[in-house]
Amino acid sequence: MSIAENFLTMEYGPAPEDAKEALGWLDRHRRHFGHFIAGTWQEPAEGTHFDSIDPATGEKLATVSQGSPADIDSAVRAARSAFSKWQATPGHERARYLYAVARAVQRHSRRLAVLETLDNGKPIRESRDIDIPLVTRHFYHHAGWAQLLDQEFPGYTACGVVGQIIPWNFPLLMLAWKIAPALASGNTLVLKPAEFTPLTALAFAEICQEIGLPAGVVNIVTGDGSTGEALVKHPDVDKIAFTGSTEVGRAIRGATASSHKRLSLELGGKSPFVVFEDADLDSAVEGLVDGIWFNQGQVCCAGSRLLMQESIAEALLDKLQQRMGTLRVGPPLDKAIDIGAIVAPVQLDRIRRLVDQGIADGATCWQPELVLPSRGLFFPPTLLSNVHPASLVAQQEIFGPVLAAMSFRTPAEAVELANNTLYGLAASVWSESINVALHVAAQIKAGVVWVNSTNLFDASSGFGGYRESGFGREGGREGLVEYLEPTWFKNAPAGRTSTRHTASKENAHELGPGIDRTVKLYIGGKQARPDSGYSFEVYGTNRELLGEAPLGNRKDIRNAVEAARKASAWSKATAHTRAQVLYYVAENLSLRASEIMVRLERAVGRRQAKKEVQLSIERSFAYAAWADKFDGAVHNPPLRMIANAMHEPIGTVGIICPNEVPLLGLLSLALPVLAMGNTAVVVPCETYPLITGDLYQLFDTSDLPGGAVNLVTGYTSQLLKTLAEHDDVDAIWCFADAASAVAAKAGSVGNLKQVFTNEGRTIDWFDAKQGEGRWFLQHAIQVKNIWVPYGE
Ligand code: NAI
Repeated sequence: MSIAENFLTMEYGPAPEDAKEALGWLDRHRRHFGHFIAGTWQEPAEGTHFDSIDPATGEKLATVSQGSPADIDSAVRAARSAFSKWQATPGHERARYLYAVARAVQRHSRRLAVLETLDNGKPIRESRDIDIPLVTRHFYHHAGWAQLLDQEFPGYTACGVVGQIIPWNFPLLMLAWKIAPALASGNTLVLKPAEFTPLTALAFAEICQEIGLPAGVVNIVTGDGSTGEALVKHPDVDKIAFTGSTEVGRAIRGATASSHKRLSLELGGKSPFVVFEDADLDSAVEGLVDGIWFNQGQVCCAGSRLLMQESIAEALLDKLQQRMGTLRVGPPLDKAIDIGAIVAPVQLDRIRRLVDQGIADGATCWQPELVLPSRGLFFPPTLLSNVHPASLVAQQEIFGPVLAAMSFRTPAEAVELANNTLYGLAASVWSESINVALHVAAQIKAGVVWVNSTNLFDASSGFGGYRESGFGREGGREGLVEYLEPTWFKNAPAGRTSTRHTASKENAHELGPGIDRTVKLYIGGKQARPDSGYSFEVYGTNRELLGEAPLGNRKDIRNAVEAARKASAWSKATAHTRAQVLYYVAENLSLRASEIMVRLERAVGRRQAKKEVQLSIERSFAYAAWADKFDGAVHNPPLRMIANAMHEPIGTVGIICPNEVPLLGLLSLALPVLAMGNTAVVVPCETYPLITGDLYQLFDTSDLPGGAVNLVTGYTSQLLKTLAEHDDVDAIWCFADAASAVAAKAGSVGNLKQVFTNEGRTIDWFDAKQGEGRWFLQHAIQVKNIWVPYGE
């Protein structure tokens, strides 16, 4: 037999990693853990415990505590009492703590990797070579952010006490993604690990003790969903950061609507893996191994939908099946294993159920012939081909080693299929043509796109979703801002609700002649009569009748949203073009300044009218300037890749305007939204909706494409509800009273749209530091990181 033949027929011998150190650590804790609160281990208030199980053997690893609302309360109190001191700790000192954490994780890397594999079932090769090194990298990188925070984020401050809830698929890595930026920016926190995988979080707690992190800065409470729920509902938590299923993300959005808690959600995905006919197919196959069989496919950004150009589909599937035949499924502590155990019986059942459903829906199922271990939770690598794009297995997250394959003909069809889910977490695009790859990457609705690569992560580059994959980023500058707030905003007083001149049913009546000034709605670049046929009277400062405004209803909002969706020319316009149009708005505003002022002064008085008009001109200039300057960044991960952090528009934004400043408030919100390429449906304030008439004249003469901005007047609360519940609205900016902020969040649960509000606080729109700039622009974009191979 030749050496080559010998090589092909050679069997793998066992190559187990030594678990002694990790098991020894568990034994030192007598395999029993309390919560980590205020720097010490505390037994659960209700005395309830549960077991953490090794999914590869079914053996019990340790007993951990079930967190009750009382435990969460002590942890939040500990975090609160540690907050002011931690926040006031100089950046350099905080940096040294984070640096010490990174060093300690490195020192204990073997123990942590083995513990992770025991608790989760993932191959030791992955926990040793991917999870733990990325954890270390995250703490080093954020030690740097702590050091630079004051220089890089002047005027910003920590949110406060943060509640963090993480899933079981990357237990320690998700912990690092949450804890490192929170600490770097001066927050204190309570973290709840997933019930299936609490052990590395507890090992991390010990690291916090070891490096002398001040008590209460990091608190870890173990438990199930009910513990998470108690954390979400605790009144003294300022922000919730969650990673997990879209279903729970939705519940959390609902549960936090009536509070001021900030929220970031990293949810599910059904990410496309798109292979064009000019791709290097062998590399694409290796990419797929990583894309869907990494961590048994239990990865939120797994490339679970294979989209193949028709001409190479057969060849690619052949190569893929051959490669699948070489994948080794088995005990995860074995260093030569590719696919380990599924985390828990409930997850294994879910995978089986969804695969059966896929077959019932007409998919062809292929699995390599292999013998699964006789005990433990294992599932073979699985290929479902001939999958219909609308079928369940093409739409729902399976979260297992199952690939659903489909084909396409043209790049346009590839994009359409790629975007044909409610999710938008990640995508992988394979083509040897940089033009094709980047053209497609730009059109895919996802927070991360890997070109000729997949599943790459780094602390310097934001990770997070579009659409129902959530909002907010983790990693990089874009991730850090999630833990910061403008200092002035944090200290802003609660707003006084203005009820003056507010539209009411009593003053609504059918549109009729006789009143000097009757404005219309502005939809799709045209003046429109309201569907209701009704209007309401608008009064001035001296209670004199100023005119009538249309009473828009849900039909008008729907028409406006449709017009905004169609105005794609605006989102495709170059930043330079958008800047030119906004300069034109500014120019036309100054030409009309005196007539607008005369009308506005009857509603807000002469002094305010003058100030509003002058500042509105300035603000238009400012956002024209920003339009081509608030751009992205190029991140430099420690790989031969560059990650292009592109600032993309969110889509269609619904805007509820403040009552106190009819013109300046509206423009301060609409202009940043437009500057970043979004389209807008604006509800002008109820106090002086007649401003609409001045604005549509302004927009009409400024080359703004029809539909880019739409104005619908009426009762704010009704129009807000329709906007918030509308699935084609991608974000809501609500700057009215506190009750409207709650309604905006509660109504947005359906499609998990981003919500940006003043939380009912007073904003001084006349002060550019408050009413203008980066804080608004940041909420008008979503960051898409496009990773491109670079160098050899
Ligand atoms: P899950 O979303 O229920 O759990 C994630 C975390 O949220 C855990 O720590 C859990 O204890 C906590 N949690 C559960 N209910 C909660 C509530 N009402 N309030 C606050 N916290 C709560 O995910 P699960 O049940 O473990 O997995 C179910 C499916 O979710 C998976 O099959 C997969 O499709 C998806 N999933 C997605 C993840 C992602 O990273 N995108 C991660 C984990 C699961």
